[in-house]
Amino acid sequence: MTGGERAWAPRTAVLAVRAVADGEPTRWYEELWGEAARGQLDLPWSRTAPFPAVAELVAATGPGEGRRAVVVGAGLGADAEHLAVHGWATTAFDVAPSAVDLVTSRYPDSAVDYRVADLLDLPDDLVGVFDLVVEVFTLQALPATVRHRATTAVRSLLAPGGTLLVAQLVRERGAPSPAEPPWPLDEDEVRALATDEVHLDRLERRPLPGSPGGADLWVAVLHRDPPAGAG
Ligand SMILES: C[S@@+](CC[C@H](N)C(=O)[O-])C[C@H]1O[C@@H](n2cnc3c(N)ncnc32)[C@H](O)[C@@H]1O
Repeated sequence: MTGGERAWAPRTAVLAVRAVADGEPTRWYEELWGEAARGQLDLPWSRTAPFPAVAELVAATGPGEGRRAVVVGAGLGADAEHLAVHGWATTAFDVAPSAVDLVTSRYPDSAVDYRVADLLDLPDDLVGVFDLVVEVFTLQALPATVRHRATTAVRSLLAPGGTLLVAQLVRERGAPSPAEPPWPLDEDEVRALATDEVHLDRLERRPLPGSPGGADLWVAVLHRDPPAGAG
């Protein structure tokens, strides 16, 4: 097989368009990760360094000291490992069993609780319990038809007083949602993460690291109201 045939990005378009047309917007992730696990494709989203906005937030927040963090759509685990190393009791989930197999092989001694779970059908024990929720490029990995469900689910992971970090590519207001992934968010969609109980502390638009003159990124930080009576 040549390098070109192993490239994963073009394969995402083929698999995703088919799955979305079938009304199964998450099906293609296992198809993609499965092909990668069998060596038919290069590893997708294979960075080993934490995403810069995650590293910044962890540095600003200080050690986790056993507080609970979750990484949504954890892929190959760079953000989850960074959190765990900094003292966060970290859960990281992905809809694709092959992604979870790959990440547990990559970090066999990890302190992270890696598990298979679907953001669109969260297990009860993940809801409302995390002091820190990290979401990098997973909302945009799901088409606009399920965006409201996905956004609501991300927010639902927060414990009272918890912090949510979201990093997503920018879609300009009024620009059409693409036919193929990724499906970037416009500013209104990012602001819609906030509710009466979950407040937007910071919203920045920055250049995507490694893409000079190219795509921009939203970095949003939100928090859920602390428990009633907490000072
Ligand atoms: C664009 S990749 C980003 C991976 C990782 N967050 C990163 O930044 O490297 C999106 C990840 O989300 C996972 N994913 C997609 N839909 C999901 C869902 N409904 N629930 C959980 N994980 C999902 C995919 O399998 C994939 O690993």
